[in-house]
Parts: sequence; structure tokens; C-alpha cells
Amino acid sequence: MAIEVSTPENSQAPSAKWWKKADVKQTLLLWIILTPIIGYVGSEVQVRSMGAPASEVMASVKSLMRIFTWAVSPVAALVAAMALTTLMSKRHYGDMPPEDADHQIRNSPRASATWLVVSTLLCLFALIAGLVVQQKDSKSILDAKAMNINVTGQQWIWNFDYPGKGVRSEVLYLPVDKPVIFHITSKDVNHSFWIVQMGIKMDANPGYITEAAVTPNKIGVFDIRCAELCGLLHAYMQTKVHVVSQADYDAWLADRAALEGAA
Ligand code: CUA
Repeated sequence: MAIEVSTPENSQAPSAKWWKKADVKQTLLLWIILTPIIGYVGSEVQVRSMGAPASEVMASVKSLMRIFTWAVSPVAALVAAMALTTLMSKRHYGDMPPEDADHQIRNSPRASATWLVVSTLLCLFALIAGLVVQQKDSKSILDAKAMNINVTGQQWIWNFDYPGKGVRSEVLYLPVDKPVIFHITSKDVNHSFWIVQMGIKMDANPGYITEAAVTPNKIGVFDIRCAELCGLLHAYMQTKVHVVSQADYDAWLADRAALEGAA
């Protein structure tokens, strides 16, 4: 392992030859090797941990996550390559502090400008792509066929009201393939209504009604969680959403209405 000693002479070497330095070459090589590894491992881990999507929004969120991970993997790989190169070839032994490094990059307007432009483009890309995906659930808000459900969070349960049906439940039932608009609020502190496999998450704040919409497209049982730290039992503020056929949904609703009428 080469230990380079920085001297005043080589720190003032002409900057035109910076790419011929051994550590720069090593960084470039590591960068090229690490980019696909980080992109592949990162996107697989991300996407697998998100589970099977239960709405179109979630399917888009997953592919967006894959694209984002690949888009930022060259940045992550460059940081890792520089860190590894520094750890491997710039280690310092002995009692005396090392010589000052040359501050070529820190003082380079070209490096700063490149970094500024690249990070701006990455941010814009993430912002625009995210907004495009979010449009998919805002579209269902305008859907005339959409059903409405009032969601109330409180420490530490969720309640679902089916307006006009006289039904209130702590478990959510939804018919498959039908757009639904949630009108979300809270009785006490701030919570966040999150249907994990449907890719929607919206703050539940006392005194306000926020809206989120989604069209569940898969029959099954999915997770509802609170995504805002709201007190001692925040981690247990969770319930389930049962996505069922229209017939099963109607039967459930009738049962619940009869039960509550009798009570
Ligand atoms: Cu409610 Cu966290």
C-alpha cells in the first residue's frame, strides 16, 4: 500500500495533470466498480422491503424508488470511492500530524460548479417525478364515482366512519377497484395515516381535515400504521385494511349497520 507524502512541491504541481495521480486513478476505478453494485443492491433491497403493491400509486412509487436509487448510485459510489481511497492510501503513521493536503478540489470553481449543477438536476428530477406519481391519487379525488370515508386518529387508534351508512369501525373495509377518498383528522395530537402497501400517507392534524385518495386494486389484508411520533404507544397505533369484492363489502357494511342499529 503506497503512502504518499504530500510536500509543498507536489501540492503546487500544475492542476492539468491531476487525473494522472495514483489516488485519482484508484478513485475512478472504484467509482466505476461501485456504481453498479450500489445501484443493484440498493434498488433490490429498497424494492423488496416495500412488499407487493396493492394500488397503482404504490406500483409507481416502487418503480420510482428503483429509478431514484439508480440515479443517485453514482453519487453514493463516488463518496464511497473517495473514502476507500483515502482510507487505503492516505493513512498516516507516526506521532506528528500529517502535512496539509492540497486543497485542489475545495478551491476549484469547476468542481463546485459541476457539483452544484449535478445536485440541482438530481433534486429537480426527484421533485418532478414524485409530483407526477402523486398526481395519480389526486386524480381519484376528482372521481365522481369515488366513495368517501372519514378517518379519525387518536392516541392510539384509528376510527373509520362511513358517512350516510351509520357505520363506524376500527378496521377498514374497502371494495376492490373503487376509488376512495379519505377525509383525515385527529382528536388529539398529530398523527399520520399510512396505508403501507397502497403508497399513501397523509398527516392527521387536530382541527384540520386533510385528504388522500387511492384505488385499491388487489384483494387482501394490508397494513395501516401511524407514521408520526404521537406518544407512548405510537408504534402500536396500527390496524388493517381488508380489500374485498363489492359483494363482500356490501355484506360487511349491512352487518355492521345492523349491529350498530341494534346497539
Ligand atoms: Cu399516532 Cu403515531
